[in-house]
Amino acid sequence: MAEMRDPKETGAHVNRVASYSIEIYERGQEKEGIDEKEIAGKRDVLRMAAMLHDVGKVAISDVILKKPAKLTEDEYSIMKQHTVLGAELFLNGHSEFDKAAMEVSLNHHERWDGKGYPGSRGCNDRLTLGGIF
Ligand SMILES: [Fe+2]
Ligand SMILES: [Fe+2]
Repeated sequence: MAEMRDPKETGAHVNRVASYSIEIYERGQEKEGIDEKEIAGKRDVLRMAAMLHDVGKVAISDVILKKPAKLTEDEYSIMKQHTVLGAELFLNGHSEFDKAAMEVSLNHHERWDGKGYPGSRGCNDRLTLGGIF
């Protein structure tokens, strides 16, 4: 589905994002001294959530998603909404997967230096940063 919707969202990309996510998660948890059994319990949930990181792009127009040229500032602002729109898909779910998928969708373009998006300003009352991992 991801490949059909966005030519840049290949199966290889989706798998790469999932693998990086797992690697970062495992190293971080090990460093914190978290038990291997507990780490393993969330690993598959994170893998599936990471594979769906760009699911919010289903709500972005093809005109923007498949534009071969550089996006205008306004188009880029719309594109950035895929994080919030993806997170909202999982808002009413109660499973660990729903919470993980919401967190990953919302935060996957955040950066360590704070220059990513959507940032706290991009969130609304129902979406909050921080979470289960
Ligand atoms: Fe994305
Ligand atoms: Fe992506």
